[in-house]
Amino acid sequence: MVEKREIGSSGIEVAPLALGGNVFGWTADEATSFTLMDAFREAGGTMIDTADVYSAWVPGHSGGESERVIGQWLARSGAREEMVIATKVGFMAGLQPDTIREGCDKSLERLGIETIDLYYMHKDDESVPLDESLGVYDELVKAGRIRAIGLSNFTAPRIAEAMEVADRCGYARPQALQPWYNLVERERYEDELAAAAQAAGLSVFPYYGLANGFLTGKYRSKDDLDQSPRGLRNVAYLEGRGQDVLAAMDAIAADTGAPLAAIALAWLMRAPTITAPIASATSLAQLSELTAALTLDLTDEQVASLDAASG
Ligand SMILES: NC(=O)c1ccc[n+]([C@@H]2O[C@H](COP(=O)([O-])OP(=O)(O)OC[C@H]3O[C@@H](n4cnc5c(N)ncnc54)[C@H](OP(=O)(O)O)[C@@H]3O)[C@@H](O)[C@H]2O)c1
Repeated sequence: MVEKREIGSSGIEVAPLALGGNVFGWTADEATSFTLMDAFREAGGTMIDTADVYSAWVPGHSGGESERVIGQWLARSGAREEMVIATKVGFMAGLQPDTIREGCDKSLERLGIETIDLYYMHKDDESVPLDESLGVYDELVKAGRIRAIGLSNFTAPRIAEAMEVADRCGYARPQALQPWYNLVERERYEDELAAAAQAAGLSVFPYYGLANGFLTGKYRSKDDLDQSPRGLRNVAYLEGRGQDVLAAMDAIAADTGAPLAAIALAWLMRAPTITAPIASATSLAQLSELTAALTLDLTDEQVASLDAASG
């Protein structure tokens, strides 16, 4: 039985690993996506992360493909009551009130559900005053269209401002933050966001938990980069600290038999301010290496060696 953690003070609880949905309809076709979600649920996973914009970067797609696949899976699996569904709005269209209202309606329709459990602002939109965007989110909470509010890709000062606005206006408070954070991108989160999230009482769900696949150990040199359409995103990690991190993970893998992907995610799960890392898989073999993190207890020495190699 996987121990659950609460999202902020929302009363919603999740297992400490979220399945990333940006691959559904991109690098995982529909049938593969269904088997991945089945296996994730079977392993004790309870949260799926998606966005209205997934996978608009694929030629011929316009966004909504991932939500549609998740909606079909929820309908056929009967798993709605067990799963916490997080989605997002505003990555390309911004956060104008009507964009949020219409985005929410469309996401609910594609997902085939009555309520979005966690609804993120996908990225900050400084052209819209926070009292307007948060005001619409508050309306959506009151109308039962969403349960909890999340912020993704916000800076520390804007997190503090969002909390201040919510409190001053009497709106539902944001409960979650989704930042970019992993073993080879520590400063992105640790420099300012960790303290801001803690001060605001936000649960943190880091994305790119596997650094686009680098932290699985499959990219060791430039010759390995053609293994995936996202291989080239890993080029920057191949030198310096990236190699040190892989060496530290290799040593732990040799001692424990755990796959590198599980070690990278278990390190995130143990980080003091983290609720659940988000990671995706494109095959069942990959997925089993992610869910292995749910039962991998790193020792203090192992965590210290990863901290030292990545610091
Ligand atoms: N808020 C935001 O702005 C934002 C931005 C990005 C992502 N996200 C969310 O975070 C989630 C996670 O990010 P991500 O999926 O882009 O990246 P990620 O989790 O860092 O990398 C996952 C990719 O690594 C490869 N992989 C996974 N397990 C593996 C294994 N055991 N062995 C070898 N390769 C393995 C797979 O790609 P290949 O098979 O193609 O190599 C997989 O799709 C997304 O799905 C999305 O929900 C949010």
